[in-house]
Amino acid sequence: MMDAFDRFGLLINDRVVRTPVAIASMAGIVDADYVLERADHIGLAFIGGYSIDAPTIEAAKVVASAGDRNEFICEDPVAELKAQLAKMATSTVIPGISLRGTTPEAFRAVARALGTAAVYEIDAHCRQPAMMAAGCGEAYLKKTGSLAEVVRALKSEGVTVSVKIRAGVADDDRILAELLWRAGADILHIDLMDYGTAKLRQIRNTCPLMLIANNSITSFDRMKDMLSHGADMVSLARQSDIRTLSGLDAAITRFADEEGWYNAPKQLCRGGDIRSLAFCCMPVKECPLIPALARIGLSHEAYVSLKRKSVEGTPLNEGPQTCFGSLAWCCKTSSPCMFRDMTIKQVGLSKKEYMRLKRDLSDTITGQIFNDRSSDNCC
Ligand SMILES: Cc1cc2nc3c(=O)[nH]c(=O)nc-3n(C[C@H](O)[C@H](O)[C@H](O)COP(=O)(O)O)c2cc1C
Ligand code: SF4
Ligand code: SF4
Repeated sequence: MMDAFDRFGLLINDRVVRTPVAIASMAGIVDADYVLERADHIGLAFIGGYSIDAPTIEAAKVVASAGDRNEFICEDPVAELKAQLAKMATSTVIPGISLRGTTPEAFRAVARALGTAAVYEIDAHCRQPAMMAAGCGEAYLKKTGSLAEVVRALKSEGVTVSVKIRAGVADDDRILAELLWRAGADILHIDLMDYGTAKLRQIRNTCPLMLIANNSITSFDRMKDMLSHGADMVSLARQSDIRTLSGLDAAITRFADEEGWYNAPKQLCRGGDIRSLAFCCMPVKECPLIPALARIGLSHEAYVSLKRKSVEGTPLNEGPQTCFGSLAWCCKTSSPCMFRDMTIKQVGLSKKEYMRLKRDLSDTITGQIFNDRSSDNCC
């Protein structure tokens, strides 16, 4: 029986994430009690949103007074958050707090008071007119420099930072993702609205942040679609009932135990993201690999050398009878191939272990690409 880290390889806040299923915040609804009722089926939960300064507390009162929406209204948000986090202290669920604030100082003050036990999520998503008029929520997506300032303020307190965005609001989500990565964010939590997997893949190709995909992910098919296009986790809000969460948790656990890489990308030529370079051949013919390498800025020689070096000393270095002389260039197990399967058998791997090694290879390749990019000039 695998443990959760072997199965999913996910760490947040130096803690193992039990399952890649999260609860997304719903103001006035998702608090510690809500999370604890569902704790057996999730790995991460964002309580809130909580308003943390005078302008946002006033805005929350305006929203609540309209009568069609609940809000958590507290005059002392730090005390309230402390009490909520204390309730979750012994749970296996990693706690996140969704915060609405108008200045970097407001966020920094909360982090200073509460410390590193929670993930701090900046709500750059709320589109209630009163919140946006106060300058927070979705308003941050139109002043991304200020959003990056908030990230930097939180990071200066040493906490883990998530940014919740709505896709398609900022001028360019790819530029935004890169900006947030360079500002120090750890997680990008994306409400994909109607944009789907193409948007997710673009963001995956732009930054190495942990990605949580959100919006209407209520079936395992939809969850798998998100995971195979770049998501590390998925989150649910409106349908975060025990039946749906437990179904997704059980299905992804079974899938990971059978397949070995729970969020393996599609092959590049089938719409895969940057991680699928782990399954690509040598650049010897006209195929989607060629423009992909050009977009990444990786020469053919550098790509070949990176893959060769990354598999040195591992079983993926074996396979003289495969197309390109080693398993480093071989396809996913979902594409039938007797030469690959013969090699896998000869070196004593199961198909699942082969996929796990491909996951390690993908981590090394993308780690190197983003490491090189991080030393480029900031956008
Ligand atoms: C009643 C309600 C309150 C919400 N409050 C927040 C909030 O405070 N902060 C936030 O980032 N998102 C908030 N959301 C958005 C959800 O977290 C989520 O992004 C959205 O509902 C789409 O996901 P779903 O299809 O799983 O519901 C709220 C959604 C609902 C329905
Ligand atoms: S290198 Fe192979 S797997 Fe990659 S895009 Fe080209 S044909 Fe597809
Ligand atoms: S040997 Fe099979 S799996 Fe490997 S590259 Fe060739 S076709 Fe793909």
